[in-house]
Amino acid sequence: MLDKSLHRKNSSGESSSGATTASAATVLPPLQDRFGRAFDYVRIAVTEKCNLRCTYCMPEEGVDFPDPTAVLTAAEIQRSVETLAKMGVRKVRFTGGEPLVRKDIIEIVANTANTPGVKAVHLTTNGLLFPKYAKDLLKAGLTGVNISLDSLDSEKFERITRRTGLDKVLESIQCALDVGFKTVKVNVVLMRGFNEDELHDFCEMTKDQRVTVRFIEFMPFDAHQMWETGEHFASAANLVEQIEKFYPGIKTASGTRTEHHIFQAPGYAGKIAVIPAFTRSLCGNCSRIRVTSDGKIRNCLYSDDEFDLKALLRKDGCTEEDVVGVFRKAFDEKHRDGFEAKKKSTEKKINVADIGKGRTSMTQIGG
Ligand code: GTP
Ligand code: 5AD
Ligand code: SF4
Repeated sequence: MLDKSLHRKNSSGESSSGATTASAATVLPPLQDRFGRAFDYVRIAVTEKCNLRCTYCMPEEGVDFPDPTAVLTAAEIQRSVETLAKMGVRKVRFTGGEPLVRKDIIEIVANTANTPGVKAVHLTTNGLLFPKYAKDLLKAGLTGVNISLDSLDSEKFERITRRTGLDKVLESIQCALDVGFKTVKVNVVLMRGFNEDELHDFCEMTKDQRVTVRFIEFMPFDAHQMWETGEHFASAANLVEQIEKFYPGIKTASGTRTEHHIFQAPGYAGKIAVIPAFTRSLCGNCSRIRVTSDGKIRNCLYSDDEFDLKALLRKDGCTEEDVVGVFRKAFDEKHRDGFEAKKKSTEKKINVADIGKGRTSMTQIGG
């Protein structure tokens, strides 16, 4: 019997994505899994490189980046997006690493925005290079930007990112609003004993600014640096409890699928969200496809199963049917939720020595 929580209507949750109905651009049957979930949102990582070294994500030194030919080209990304749009994908997000370190990012965004069927093109960035490219990105058709920021204190910012740049990130948030992006969000990975004391200050950013501040549960994709004991983990439930205490009578609001808990304080311009990234209470509503920068399809953030899109695209005579086929296979094999995905991936690692190998950092998975 199919679990009802796994059987929801097709939507990226973003009002601008217009993804609830099949549009004229869908010329192929939609991408679905065996639980009846439809996938209309693709996250494409365009690079593993990053100009920060956040301790919850990347090691300080000794990072091996794939050689440039291992990374999908703009043309390969475009081909994938066109096929996915025909299968019902309406929202595309570029992630990394840091997507803005990629030189042809404007071209990639413009191509995607011009693809029939694509309704929303978003970018997740650390904000350092954003002001430089903001206007060009908007002109290219970018519809929304999520900016990562984990501390409003410059000393703490440096401790977590191992670089300077708080002022630049704050400038980016303002710039995104001023330039006129419709959707501007701030992603805060909330960690106990590190930035939990800034929860209220971050919430207060929504008083006058039309941003959504989102608190993300810390996940074990930190290149084996901070997770270990779980002492830095703050649960979504606990964060929600704290937010409700700050703002008695706070109302729930509407948001995207990752924004499992979303609020707006009375009279405030922006919204506050909590993303249960580790608790995984959002899995029943999963609508996302992941493509890593080296061209592998992943059907779940917590699964190590990979489907080689790049090899296929580079094969002589690769047809659209072939590309459709690899996405369908990936999603036929998708597990019910992130817990099952993790369990199956661990079981596959027959040798104890293999446990912990593979992709250990968010930059390798694509955020
Ligand atoms: P919106 O489209 O604005 O909702 O953004 P998003 O949350 O889809 O994208 P973003 O790149 O801003 O991701 C923010 C964080 O959400 C990621 O760093 C993850 O922590 C978490 N997240 C994103 N996708 C998933 C997912 O598929 N599963 C889980 N468990 N967490 C996810
Ligand atoms: N846990 C939770 N979120 C993470 N991110 C990177 N590493 C982790 C982790 N270990 C987040 C970044 C950014 C998004 C793309 O991924 O902060 O907001
Ligand atoms: Fe989807 Fe897996 Fe993320 Fe759950 S953990 S929302 S199933 S990608």
